[in-house]
Amino acid sequence: MTMDVLITGGCGFIGSNFVRFILNAREDVRLVNIDNLTYAGNLANLDGMEGGFADRYHFIRGDICDPFCVKGLFERFQIRWVIHFAAESHVDRSILGPEAFIRTNVLGTFHLLETARNIWLQKDGSYPPDRRFLHISTDEVFGSLGDSGLFTEESPYDPSSPYSASKAAADHLARAYFRTYRLPVIMTHSSNNYGPYQFPEKLIPLMIQNARKGIELPVYGDGGNVRDWLYVEDHCRALLRVLEKGRPGETYNVGGMAEKRNSEVVELICEYLDRKLGIRGEGPRTKLIRFVLDRPGHDRRYALDTSKIRKELGWEPTMKFEQGIRTTIDWYLENTRWVEGILDGSYREYYAKQYGQRLGPQ
Ligand code: NAD
Ligand code: DAU
Repeated sequence: MTMDVLITGGCGFIGSNFVRFILNAREDVRLVNIDNLTYAGNLANLDGMEGGFADRYHFIRGDICDPFCVKGLFERFQIRWVIHFAAESHVDRSILGPEAFIRTNVLGTFHLLETARNIWLQKDGSYPPDRRFLHISTDEVFGSLGDSGLFTEESPYDPSSPYSASKAAADHLARAYFRTYRLPVIMTHSSNNYGPYQFPEKLIPLMIQNARKGIELPVYGDGGNVRDWLYVEDHCRALLRVLEKGRPGETYNVGGMAEKRNSEVVELICEYLDRKLGIRGEGPRTKLIRFVLDRPGHDRRYALDTSKIRKELGWEPTMKFEQGIRTTIDWYLENTRWVEGILDGSYREYYAKQYGQRLGPQ
């Protein structure tokens, strides 16, 4: 028996990795992927999917903010699980223009919750026991940590950017739908993901791209901000475990247990590229590092306490950062055509706006 699963934002970075992961892991799943293909969503991320999994994968180009489109999907398919990735996800873009973040992250989440509630609700006021609404959130909703401590699932919300504030608003809605309507919502907070198919505006792929091409490497502030890096496949495994074994109404932290300062990450990338491609005539790639104007409201450190998901669901990350970063760099070096293919004129405009003044005249 196949089971219909709705994934939102499946053409983005984590979503596309998850599409591949679940179709391989669960032969009983038929996947419906709704994505409106923003600059961050690319069909090239799922090349070959409709051929390879023809009868188990359906792509619908649609907007989660369109309630008629979302309702139509629930009517056409027997959706049992919703896995909600779709979002505007880049902090720097949220600072340049917050409106799209409020629209997709808050309003889009609302329409999904509301449609799932209306369609799944039975006459006796309950939901069929196999229904799940997995809301994918982030550690950024908790704000910033000092030099020590970890965020637990109970840490208070304290978002700093329009992006994290919009994710926090969506989380509150998702939790309210569980408390008020008993909609079987489960939530995850994950730390920074890295791996194949990440759009090159985020730290790791941006630095790989620039360092490969010999372009300056813009590190914000003093480079001492810390992120906890999670390999995307470890994240996908955690999400499937949460869907299969997690309890509705619960929240689970998913962290990589790999805290690194940004400058450390950039240096690692430079050193590995020097070894792989050889040192450039101008010298080691670390010479390309520029400490530039800081991100406004820049959170200093994120780190997650993952004991709940370890104890309750038996999940833990398996990829060590030192290996994961090499695998990721190798992937980007082997897939330069993918990178060039997804970067259009609008990305160049964004890059000029974001980094123009920070780096000065080129
Ligand atoms: P991404 O930006 O790479 O992809 C987002 C996808 O959503 C794109 O395919 C885009 O086209 C789609 N989308 C955007 N607006 C839409 C709309 N209105 N309707 C339909 N589709 C729409 O994001 P990502 O990095 O893969 O992140 C996925 C989710 O995971 C997000 O909810 C994000 O907040 C969360 N998250 C990401 C990270 C990370 O490190 N990347 C960490 C923690 C949580
Ligand atoms: O923590 C989870 C979050 O991780 C997710 O919710 C977000 O969707 C995801 O984008 C990511 O947010 P960050 O802001 O941490 O990721 P980003 O890759 O943009 O930046 C990582 C760190 O690197 C951050 O401290 C800012 C810094 N940075 C980033 C860029 C793009 C630089 O120093 N220079 C840069 O050019």
